[in-house]
Amino acid sequence: MRSTNVQTSHSSSTLLFRLFSIYFLSLHGAKAGFIHLCVEIPISTRAESTIRGVNPLNYTTNHTSHSDSNGTSPEQLLRIIFEYTTKIANERTLVNVLLLMANMGREMIMADRCTVWLIDHVRDELFTTVAHGVDEIRIPLGSGFVGHSITTGEPILVEDAYNDPRHNAENDLRTGYRTKSIITVPFVGNDGSIIGAYQAINKVGTDAVFTPLDLEYLTLAASYAGKSLESVMLHEEIVDTQRDIILAMGEIGESRSKETSNHVNRVAEYSYVLAIGYGLSTEEAEQLKMVSPMHDIGKVAIPDAVLHKPGKLTEEEFELMKRHTTIGYNLLKASGRDLMKMASIVAYEHHEKWDGSGYPRGLSGEDIHLYGRITAIADVFDALGSDRVYKKAWELDLILRLFEEERGRHFDPRLVDIFFKQLPKLLQIRDNYKDID
Ligand SMILES: [Fe+2]
Ligand SMILES: [Fe+2]
Repeated sequence: MRSTNVQTSHSSSTLLFRLFSIYFLSLHGAKAGFIHLCVEIPISTRAESTIRGVNPLNYTTNHTSHSDSNGTSPEQLLRIIFEYTTKIANERTLVNVLLLMANMGREMIMADRCTVWLIDHVRDELFTTVAHGVDEIRIPLGSGFVGHSITTGEPILVEDAYNDPRHNAENDLRTGYRTKSIITVPFVGNDGSIIGAYQAINKVGTDAVFTPLDLEYLTLAASYAGKSLESVMLHEEIVDTQRDIILAMGEIGESRSKETSNHVNRVAEYSYVLAIGYGLSTEEAEQLKMVSPMHDIGKVAIPDAVLHKPGKLTEEEFELMKRHTTIGYNLLKASGRDLMKMASIVAYEHHEKWDGSGYPRGLSGEDIHLYGRITAIADVFDALGSDRVYKKAWELDLILRLFEEERGRHFDPRLVDIFFKQLPKLLQIRDNYKDID
């Protein structure tokens, strides 16, 4: 049911603010959400849009008749905003934020499809992720309505796309979908630059078209979700940078010991497969994949004469070599970051053995952290299959026999079973990450 109030000359945002207050009274224990939204809402949509360089009054349109009928009641609108902004604020994964944003936009203005477009500055393209039955699409920067909107910073409202020369009909031709009515609204980042755009296609209902009110609502959605979007993009950037640094550090450790070029990448991938097989969450397995390349970082402090010795090490040299575990641990544990703490465990415990005969502490069984037990299997599997300064690569059947023999001795028996179960995947990884001479 639709409120006629929204059709009056009141700013819909002022009205929304009042309704938010009423809506809040019917909610229990949701104060945090209320405070957040209360700060956001009093700014008029039009005023805020103008500040952010997006003025719905200046939208480009080929409108012939304006219907104020939006189809979403203010109460529904508040519920949608409240639910989605809470979900989006708690989400740290870009792809999930994009999906939530798309759903929020679609529900707010009753669109058939809603997509979020982002700018790929490296490839000079715009791209969408999967949403509402649409796989990732890439288009040249500046093309179509969305490109136009992003380039100019202006929202666009069009009743019939095929009457507008900016419409790029290529996707319709490819997918068989018929675009009619379109709205695009750019997202503006905190520094004022445009980071992407919302695009809603086809109003739900026979002969229904988007209205200026829909445009205003989508602008409202863009102004809320856009902030979370930027912070998640920033978060992903930081995680990617951390991953690169960790990998580079791992490579330093391996290059000091002249190990094969893709060793750390393979250990990372093997660790992931074993972790998933063990039942860890995708997130934890991803984290282990990121840190396992650092297992030998402590080798940076081991003298070349020991590290690069082709023959067997003397007892004294072996004692020195063993120290790479504690050196790596001490190097990494100082950081308060979770990933670094995880990496310090891997560095410390990847040479411990299930039966207690490993080093440096001679831990046994489940006293050895799972991350150490997993990395031990990944590391040994890869080391045996590669040429090293002190040995040639082993044949696969010999490696497998060793794992059978060492089940419950060197390695966690449960993990050895997972290793055999996942062997096809592990061999595929070995094939994908061959060493380049
Ligand atoms: Fe090691
Ligand atoms: Fe290694």
